[in-house]
Amino acid sequence: MCSDTPPVLSPDGDGIAVAARLLQAGKLVAIPTETVYGLGGDACDDLAVAAIFDAKDRPSFNPLIIHFADQDSAWAHVVPCILAEKLAATFWPGPLTLVLPRRPESNISLLASAGLSTLAVRVPLHPTARLLLMTVNTPIAAPSANRSGTISPTLAKHVVEPFSGILDGVIDGGPCQIGLESTVVGFDYGRPTLLRPGGISVEEIEDIVGPLSVPAANSAVASPGMLKRHYAPNTPLRLNAIDFRPEEVVLGFGAQMPVDSPDGSLNLSETGDLREAAANLFAMLRELDARDAEGIVAMPIPDIDLGRAINDRLKRASAPS
Ligand code: TXA
Ligand code: MG
Repeated sequence: MCSDTPPVLSPDGDGIAVAARLLQAGKLVAIPTETVYGLGGDACDDLAVAAIFDAKDRPSFNPLIIHFADQDSAWAHVVPCILAEKLAATFWPGPLTLVLPRRPESNISLLASAGLSTLAVRVPLHPTARLLLMTVNTPIAAPSANRSGTISPTLAKHVVEPFSGILDGVIDGGPCQIGLESTVVGFDYGRPTLLRPGGISVEEIEDIVGPLSVPAANSAVASPGMLKRHYAPNTPLRLNAIDFRPEEVVLGFGAQMPVDSPDGSLNLSETGDLREAAANLFAMLRELDARDAEGIVAMPIPDIDLGRAINDRLKRASAPS
């Protein structure tokens, strides 16, 4: 059994050795990645994977991303097509997830992939995650370490409180550099398809593999996790706002932040830098949510580069429940 507050582990060799032992024993450990914190468990252990779904209150039809130390370890479980190999060569380690056919001999829990014939695989860049994956010597299933539907975690403290009594450890690797989940790309009869915008922009991916398709509107199976409402604060969120009421707080972007914004308003990036805005998004949404304002109003964000992934998250965060 784990104690109430999960032990916070250091991101050095000692902390990683403890985390690796816990994971090998089927326990759950939150781990830093360059995108968001992940709720990690041994991907080959059905009970550990079941515990992840349980801890997150995650619907069991929503499959998990499996993390590997390097490309070859990933390719041992899935069959890459040529374009997947090109993308992996360019962006791994990094914030890109590839959805590929599972090899029949893969021993990854079937529950992790929610019974689909494909697996979502990724090689993360964060040095702590990499060292842990090399030490533990098994693939790690790790969804974002938030309760289903709520704001994703970009600091260790975002994980500690909601998972008290549930997690066996949290490695504190500091703030996540990218701050948005990985981009998820699948292959529809070989055609690269964008399943979730994320930390690598569509433009960067299209430079390597040409135009990305989008899944048909009714293809729920293509990326079952793309729920309409997700990443949501408790406070109502309004998008693309050009005005605000004094009872609201503003989530601003760029130099055009209204000078008379209510106290407590925040700016994702004063210089209009989309990378900085992505890194700040989830932590600022949490801060604004804690203000007890009547509403949060988000200013428009350009729909290019990482702005697409930011707008995707804001749209889901503001969807009616
Ligand atoms: O950056 C990230 O990707 C983070 C860190 C921890 O690595 N993880 C993450 O996991 O965001 P999660 O579980 O919150 O999101 C996984 C996404 C969901 O949209 C899910 O539906 C999709 O990946 N996915 C997983 N397996 C899939 C599959 N076989 N086919 C299609 N989509 C899949
Ligand atoms: Mg998530």
